Amino acid sequence: MQKHTINLQPLGKTIQVNDETPLIDVLHEFGIEFPCGGKGTCGKCKVKLITGEIEVSEKHGQQIEKLGLNSEWRLACYSNCTSDITLEVEQFNHIILADESNFEFVPLLGFGVAVDLGTTTLVAQLIDLSTAKVIAVETMLNPQAKFGADLISRIQSGIDGKAVEMTTVIRSAIGSMIDLMLQKHNVEIRKIVIVGNTAMQLIFSREDVSPLAMYPFEVKNLGMKTFIPNELGWKTKVAESVQFYPSIGSFVGSDILAGIAATGLGEKEHYTALIDLGTNGEIVVGNKDRIVCASTAAGPAFEGTNISMGMRAVTGAISSLHLENGKIIANVIGNTEPKGICGSALVDAIAIFRKLEMIGDFGDINSGDTQISIAGKVKITRKDINEFQLAKAAIAAGLEILTQELSIQLSDINELYIAGGFGSYINLKHVSEIGMIELPEQKIRKMGNTALLGAKMFLFSNLKIVEDILVKTIHVNLETNPDFENIFVDKILF
Ligand code: FES
Repeated sequence: MQKHTINLQPLGKTIQVNDETPLIDVLHEFGIEFPCGGKGTCGKCKVKLITGEIEVSEKHGQQIEKLGLNSEWRLACYSNCTSDITLEVEQFNHIILADESNFEFVPLLGFGVAVDLGTTTLVAQLIDLSTAKVIAVETMLNPQAKFGADLISRIQSGIDGKAVEMTTVIRSAIGSMIDLMLQKHNVEIRKIVIVGNTAMQLIFSREDVSPLAMYPFEVKNLGMKTFIPNELGWKTKVAESVQFYPSIGSFVGSDILAGIAATGLGEKEHYTALIDLGTNGEIVVGNKDRIVCASTAAGPAFEGTNISMGMRAVTGAISSLHLENGKIIANVIGNTEPKGICGSALVDAIAIFRKLEMIGDFGDINSGDTQISIAGKVKITRKDINEFQLAKAAIAAGLEILTQELSIQLSDINELYIAGGFGSYINLKHVSEIGMIELPEQKIRKMGNTALLGAKMFLFSNLKIVEDILVKTIHVNLETNPDFENIFVDKILF
């Protein structure tokens, strides 16, 4: 198959792709977000075509015109790669203030770095604090992956004597991402904000992770951790501080705190929910008076763990499925042979097979077979369906318990934001249809990486914004809630 080169500016990265590869499939791997999920309506995925050609379909042309863009712009979500191209990625030159989530900032002098330390991926952005412009970005997979893919195995590695090594690895990875950005932009850093889940915070801070492995799962010090670059082994000079923001609970970290800030959930009159579907699934419900949050073990299924042909959203993964004239059409990342299925397509597969009455209410395969073919050699098994049911039940039950804690009904939630790794791809209609989120599709909105957005907001704010959130937030332990088991079992059925 013919190959093409895509050169991404200002990232300075070059990638090889197959002919006709949709840009949405490859750009999201570089941290580029598709806020409207590729509908062509938000314009946030726009790229400037510096060299090469990208054909513009009639619909694409109409959307470009509607958004008032001139002829050098393309919407990445509508574009395929058919020649060698150089693109300037608008998102990384974009003024963050343009975000819909009420992010306002008071300009400051100097530059800051926002870091989202995820269990699976790391993203760092260099921000001009006078404009809130992102001037550089670095992304990488969390090198702690060699100590285990999920949180539980990382925590276990920590207990098994690998804690110091894990700390060194993550500090050095983030330090080198910052160095790379500063090599391209020789500026002085005023402040560095890091957010991440509680386990990541403890490991980064060289603190004991063992409380996360045993009842009552209580971490003594969830607060803000402040460092000087020297003690982290970083060469970077930082005028003010390097701060790892506080966690909310043992399994709800500062990434969720940042998500609450990014969505403005704690300032709204009406009830709003946030579900972060990353390596673990955190749920938050609240308004300006009260916020409750919890974590569920829903993440691994959506990230491909425990699913026989599950994989992350990388080349070869089926990222979405839809029905066309009764035929299942698979979208494969990188336009290549399908090798496996990622979380968003798993949701699609379940919804479509339910619609086609191939999967029963209990998750059984109606034909009596043990597996269903999806595309190429990729299939899902009865066990995969059951794993998915456990994950969807965890989310649905978690949401219900949190609404009970607030003495409200699910229908009192005005808006629900989905954040996290595969949020940009997930089909909201399918999410609602299969009962993963028991709200109408119209109430659910994709929000991209709220942790990173919140971390950027923290660069501009004093600690009051954090204190305001923490003072009204209660962390709920779902496992010890007497109703959880019954509700969970109830939600396993389709
Ligand atoms: S226009 Fe919204 S993601 Fe492309």
